[in-house]
Amino acid sequence: MIKLKTLEDLRLEDATVLCRVDFNVPLDGDSIRDDTRIRAALPTIQALREGGARIVLMSHLGRPKGQRVPSLSLLPAAARLAELVDAEVVFAHDTVGDGVAELVRELPEGGILVLENLRFDPREKAGDDEFSKALASLGTCFVNDAFGALHRAHASITGAAAHLPSAAGLLVQAEVEALGKLVSRPERPFGAILGGAKVSDKMGVIDALSKKVDHLFIGGAMAYTFLASRGEDVGSSRIESDKLELADELLALCEERGVKVHLPVDHVVADRFAEDAEPSTHDHIPEGTMGLDIGPKTVEAWTAVMATCQTLFWNGPLGVFEWDAFSGGTRSIAEAMASSQAWTVVGGGDSAAAVAAFGLSDRMDHVSTGGGASLEFLEKGDLVGLAPLKRK
Ligand code: 3PG
Repeated sequence: MIKLKTLEDLRLEDATVLCRVDFNVPLDGDSIRDDTRIRAALPTIQALREGGARIVLMSHLGRPKGQRVPSLSLLPAAARLAELVDAEVVFAHDTVGDGVAELVRELPEGGILVLENLRFDPREKAGDDEFSKALASLGTCFVNDAFGALHRAHASITGAAAHLPSAAGLLVQAEVEALGKLVSRPERPFGAILGGAKVSDKMGVIDALSKKVDHLFIGGAMAYTFLASRGEDVGSSRIESDKLELADELLALCEERGVKVHLPVDHVVADRFAEDAEPSTHDHIPEGTMGLDIGPKTVEAWTAVMATCQTLFWNGPLGVFEWDAFSGGTRSIAEAMASSQAWTVVGGGDSAAAVAAFGLSDRMDHVSTGGGASLEFLEKGDLVGLAPLKRK
């Protein structure tokens, strides 16, 4: 088990806390489509305020490639935060420098400053030490609550932490505890449901999970690559033809390790990849059609096995859940998780968005805010950004 330094290890009174958060939220122009990640940082922000600290928040947003991209400014996130905490939030149009330092000096006790998007500066992703030091100079201690970005060795994650007394925020603590339980002491039977587009993205996690789970359910677009690797006809479904051998090897590996793999036994198909395409359901994908969702027989078979599990982990949509006609499989599996007696964990990214869209987030035991970070944690049992936060 990873032991982290916590807020209690820091002296907050009169401190200026440099706090890394993950405000990488989906935007529609200036408005925030989903503020889950901002809300997830609130417990830490409130605890820092109650402790009497001044707070300097920093985050990335999107991938601006080291350039100032106005549509990726963190200003809308700062405005949303001000509404959520019902207090003034000052915004710095820069990340480091004299102007920013002046804004920090002017902060009252409990005051909040949000820096501009860290990735507007190429030194953030490069993990540049001068930039790390310049960030660190803004605070007297460092708190990392950016679970979703902990797999990045960037200046604000691993760099600044090296120059200040550091600790994990409450979100990072909760994520590490929940995902750590999956890695180190899951109650059995343990079932993992994996979906999403690419086998290549999930290779590492399938390998790691196959050492821990009893059941592996594979849906989403990548299921067609697995089915094709077993010689099944998949019509015009989008498969990764260069990954067929790898898919076959992964299935063999699971078998060797005694994991029961569940592939779809029926499919919702259409003749084109379009929201208004006519859906139909088949046990075998007809020629000239593509699979866009798992079918009802698959849902029935999978949910029966899921009901026997004590631990369930799910990552990746099982069909094109954004389109009504092809959302049934993802919705049914999400509902089965929500009503299950098992301890349920949803990996971040699209599956967290699906669970939120279905209004089921509160009925899961844990919904991770990390996409890539949660999968890497399951794969390696650790993340690069945790190193400076660990108790020696
Ligand atoms: C995420 O959305 O997974 C995190 O914010 C990390 O973003 P990144 O993949 O652009 O580093």
